[in-house]
Amino acid sequence: MSEAVRTMMRMDAEAAQETAAQADAGFLWDFWYPAVRSTAIRGQKLVTAMLLEVPLVLGRTSEGKVFAMRDSCPHRGIPLSYGQLDGKVVECCYHGWRFDACSGQCVEIPSLSSQDKLKVERIFAGHYPCEERDGYVWVYMNSPGTRLPETIPAAPGLTVFSDKYKITHLSCELPSHIDHGIIGLMDPAHGPFVHQSWFWRKRGSIHEKAKQFEPIPNGFRMSPHSPSTNSAPYQLLKKITGEAVTTTIDFLLPNIRTEEDRSGKMWFSSRATVTPVRRDLCRIVFVAAWNLFFLPVSIFKIFGKIFLRQDQETMIRQAEGLQHNPRLMLIDDADRPAKWYFALKSNLMESRRTGAPMVHPMDGPVTLRWRS
Ligand code: FES
Ligand SMILES: [Fe+2]
Repeated sequence: MSEAVRTMMRMDAEAAQETAAQADAGFLWDFWYPAVRSTAIRGQKLVTAMLLEVPLVLGRTSEGKVFAMRDSCPHRGIPLSYGQLDGKVVECCYHGWRFDACSGQCVEIPSLSSQDKLKVERIFAGHYPCEERDGYVWVYMNSPGTRLPETIPAAPGLTVFSDKYKITHLSCELPSHIDHGIIGLMDPAHGPFVHQSWFWRKRGSIHEKAKQFEPIPNGFRMSPHSPSTNSAPYQLLKKITGEAVTTTIDFLLPNIRTEEDRSGKMWFSSRATVTPVRRDLCRIVFVAAWNLFFLPVSIFKIFGKIFLRQDQETMIRQAEGLQHNPRLMLIDDADRPAKWYFALKSNLMESRRTGAPMVHPMDGPVTLRWRS
């Protein structure tokens, strides 16, 4: 066996190990994840991000199309982000190999002589489908070592209910595994303790609630209902429009929570995603749009940041406790959404493994009761 072949094999073995490690991390592949804000990618700048432990380099071609490549040169692994983009092609900083930014295909190896038979066009840098939605660049993370499917679904977009609206974005990092990030996001019982504030709700206002949930493909929905009487913003909205407020909250695999609030012609729509960056770090990306004339973006941002910060501080404290591998509990009914999340995730993985249709963990609408 030639030395070159042996080297290649060693590299393949390393790639296989990496794939196995990523499989163990509990990530859901073959979904869209938000990587960076659209505004972060300007001119010929190369921007780095990490999703599901994959280092990425993102940029924008001179035609304005965003692209995402694995931030690793297929020649010797140096991050491509140290290289240069000329508007169409990314050039590695080490030996100058050049890659088409949108397909990852190698277009030039400067060191090749006229004698060389190497087929440059057969070499590819890792690349991922990329789309812009609601001010974010989304990247479709297909499982390591697999080919892209023939058709990939469109990246998720935020639902809006009128032509004119305000929109804003917030994000924060949590030092947590994705599963803790997600169950924290859907957990109804922490509200009165973590998010106690004069503008949201007081601990003393805790009371019994009953909410109906129903299964939807790849997730579940808190059926349309009137929001809590102990949340000031909803009460204000009701006063202003004089009409009932209806809220619908969905959770969708792998990581999306959407909320739509409507009252007469007024609406508010938001989407939060919790995306794994590494197995010990995830990022909440939050986008909200509304046509409520009395709610300026600046005010919303102030409150939104306080809210996210409260979650973040709690998760930092939780991470401290989780270092010691404690046993944990999920109780009914307050933690039932978390149980559904785990069941949805493992049923999806199982159906992908066997090719059998995915079994939904809920067999119909159910009412959950808790105090919050
Ligand atoms: S490492 Fe990129 S061209 Fe050699
Ligand atoms: Fe929270």
